[in-house]
Amino acid sequence: MPAKVIIGAQWGDEGKGKITDIFASKSDVVVRSQGGNNAGHTVEANGVQYKLHLTPSGILNKNTICVIGNGVVVDPKVLLSEIDMLQEKGISTDNLKIDARAHVILPYHIILDALSEEARGKDDIGTTKRGIGPCYMDKAERIGIRMCDFVDEEVFEELFRRNVEIKNKIIKNVYGKEPISADDYLEEYKGYARRLKKYVDDCTIIVYEAIKNNKEVLFEGAQGTLLDLDLGTYPYVTSSHPISGGACIGSGIGPTLIDECIGVVKAYTTRVGKGPFPTELFDETGDQIREKGFEYGTTTGRPRRCGWFDAVIVRFAVRTSSLTSLVVNKIDTLTGIKKLKICKGYELDGKIITEFPVKLSDLSRCKPVYEELDGWDEDITGVRNFEDLPENAKKYIYKIEELCGVKVSMVGVGPNREQNIIR
Ligand code: GDP
Ligand code: IMO
Ligand code: MG
Repeated sequence: MPAKVIIGAQWGDEGKGKITDIFASKSDVVVRSQGGNNAGHTVEANGVQYKLHLTPSGILNKNTICVIGNGVVVDPKVLLSEIDMLQEKGISTDNLKIDARAHVILPYHIILDALSEEARGKDDIGTTKRGIGPCYMDKAERIGIRMCDFVDEEVFEELFRRNVEIKNKIIKNVYGKEPISADDYLEEYKGYARRLKKYVDDCTIIVYEAIKNNKEVLFEGAQGTLLDLDLGTYPYVTSSHPISGGACIGSGIGPTLIDECIGVVKAYTTRVGKGPFPTELFDETGDQIREKGFEYGTTTGRPRRCGWFDAVIVRFAVRTSSLTSLVVNKIDTLTGIKKLKICKGYELDGKIITEFPVKLSDLSRCKPVYEELDGWDEDITGVRNFEDLPENAKKYIYKIEELCGVKVSMVGVGPNREQNIIR
């Protein structure tokens, strides 16, 4: 089975980084194909914690080629600081590749992300303010700057000056703020381009050849299904495609080359940023999950909103990404909670529905219909065999399988590489 896609099946932060790192030890190539440094993927190995935003989580394996695909938006400053951080920790980045078609996040994108959020006032999306949306907007507008042009000094200068002029009109006339000067940034960014040039390549060939030669290729999703630009809780979404289809567009291969799609979920639900969240908990149990699960954003440090596991949204992810299995992380966080709830459907205006509604105003009125399960008290962080889990923890996993219609192939019982149960 050479090509596997790993995606988030909720609202992001499901533990994709940890799972990618585990699979990466057996992968020849790991590919990020969408998103940018809005992602925060935590990998814990040998007692060291790594927070990765752009570098694929396969980077800790020195023999794995790590590709930043054409669908990713790359902030060069952030990527270089990540490369420096990894090298300081003794991790080689010689195996890193950036696709020449990937778009570059530039200072005006970050400025415009903040200005548009401010202008939305109480209706803000709660973006990470990393310039992600504005960079994808430029790509769709066809004025974006791609890696291949970024590393060509003359072309970059011309495109950058042109874009600063365009953006200044918006900054001044739409938002009434001070324009920026291209000269304040050009030398700094040319310096970043010089350092990144050696990593830039046509990665679509690398990925295609690897799959064709029966190498193990792993696609590491960022964000999650409900943040997908088309299928998520629009407009409270990101600007890329975290569903499994995004792996194809963002790396330049066709769907027939993919064998497996693995959805990563938490044993409960979290969300950062705004937007409806039917199973959100506003009580002590929600606080308990947040504190015990360290549910604070890897990228922005914001407290994550916490709630019960929602099988309606995971079923939606199973369908829209054709998931072949699920990984359930953080079941250890639920230890000690006497009664656990899993949402199996919603009540909308007196009717029970089992499919995720399209309209946000409908979703906001949805009341979760729960199934209640008994909890467990035993410490499960050291369990490595499914059979050794407390009976109620096993029942919890069986219920997820039953309600989501797909098998659970792995269960996470702690943040470390080793803290997994493979079934
Ligand atoms: P990602 O964005 O999907 O890669 O997830 P994040 O790294 O943003 O958030 C997941 C958090 O949960 C990280 O702090 C992980 O170290 C942690 N984590 C992952 N799996 C488990 C698990 O099974 N148990 C516990 N307790 N923590 C986990
Ligand atoms: P990982 O890969 C959780 C959320 C933001 C906001 C919305 C839009 O770590 O799972 P953006 O900056 O992308 O325009 O913000 O998307 N968001 C994430 N939430 N995990 C992420 O990534 C996210 N990336 C973006 O909080 O609600
Ligand atoms: Mg994250």
